[in-house]
Amino acid sequence: MPDTQAILEDGKKYLIGNYARLPIVMARGEGSRLWDSDGKEYLDLFAGFGGCILGHCHPELIRAATEQAQRLWHVGNTFYTTPQIEFAEGLNRHAFAGQAFFCHSGAEANEAACKLARLRGHQDGGKKWKIISLHKSFHGRTLAMIAATGNPAYRAGFEPAVPGFIQVEGGDFAALDAAVDDETAGIIMEPIQGEGGVNQYPTDYPAKVRDLCDRRGVTLIFDEVWTGCGRTGRWFAHQHFVGSGGGGVTPDIMTLGKAVGGGLPVGVMWARPEIGKLLVPGTHGCTLGGNPICMAVARTIFEVIERDGLVARAEALGRHAVARLREETRLKAKIADLRGAGLMMGIELKSAPQAGFVERALAKGVAINLTAKQVVRLAPPINISNEDWDAGLDRVIETLVAEQ
Ligand SMILES: Cc1ncc(COP(=O)(O)O)c(C=O)c1O
Repeated sequence: MPDTQAILEDGKKYLIGNYARLPIVMARGEGSRLWDSDGKEYLDLFAGFGGCILGHCHPELIRAATEQAQRLWHVGNTFYTTPQIEFAEGLNRHAFAGQAFFCHSGAEANEAACKLARLRGHQDGGKKWKIISLHKSFHGRTLAMIAATGNPAYRAGFEPAVPGFIQVEGGDFAALDAAVDDETAGIIMEPIQGEGGVNQYPTDYPAKVRDLCDRRGVTLIFDEVWTGCGRTGRWFAHQHFVGSGGGGVTPDIMTLGKAVGGGLPVGVMWARPEIGKLLVPGTHGCTLGGNPICMAVARTIFEVIERDGLVARAEALGRHAVARLREETRLKAKIADLRGAGLMMGIELKSAPQAGFVERALAKGVAINLTAKQVVRLAPPINISNEDWDAGLDRVIETLVAEQ
């Protein structure tokens, strides 16, 4: 047995303390279960901040990574490689007709999207450079993305903010309409806000935003870093939206991270081809972006999700959980709201739990998350078994019932 205390002490010594790490060393994972260095087992209902969409150490992903690692590990993007193209073909089939730029994280994908929106805004002598985002949004931690993120706490100490980013209230169409001017290049929004508390918009809002962008020549960016790849019961959460003409609401650019790599570092900017084509050689890049091993895994994730019907499964498991939480009489006085879609769930409590809430859940053997002070987030792997999902929900319910 490793000496957990010694690992924790070394961790404090050698790792920068920018994460509020719990005093637990995770040692092994399989499916929706994790084991710590002392052998304690947990049901993982947060899946590495949504990254492990197919759980831990999925055998088919291990095989895809291993086979690719033995064939071709990395080459520069001065060459074509088939895993990138095969994965992009899957995106084209399940999202909308587009073209990919690959990077490593959600923040980088959003950076690329905002750069592209500006590039488009500068076409033909244009002067569009501002990006509008929404209050309570989260778009990443780079300098530009903390300026885009709709929560000033993320900018504190890092001022002055990168110019050109403006925030308005999410869901308030009049405010957004008023904020758009002749310098607006793009609007970026999460189809469902994740870090901000699993927040949704009025049903007609996305269609109005799309129409506004069309009217004013503004690039619409959907940040699907949290919501993408089947989690919400659609391949991409914007596919829940209904357009003003009764069809769908399709963005000009969609960004992906987290689940798209199944836990490996993959970020994607997916753009309509007529916009994507503006990124000509020299305008943008990423040395390791589209790494063949990561791409082979991403391609396989899409294949497994499609073959096993996991998009529909996410929707069904989400509905099951909502029903269970609603039926639980012991929670009636504690839950203010249930939000989200599929397996992106937010349980808003009537008041913030005492400090140590996540630790108390872990002590009961379940990994969950708390955001926006009092929103409990569940985002398990979408291939979690019925038994593990129910057992995990039992532990969540017991944790909530035990709260004062
Ligand atoms: C909606 C959204 N966009 C972007 C990001 C940033 O992703 P990353 O941490 O991979 O840079 C996150 C991370 O939580 C996110 O939730």
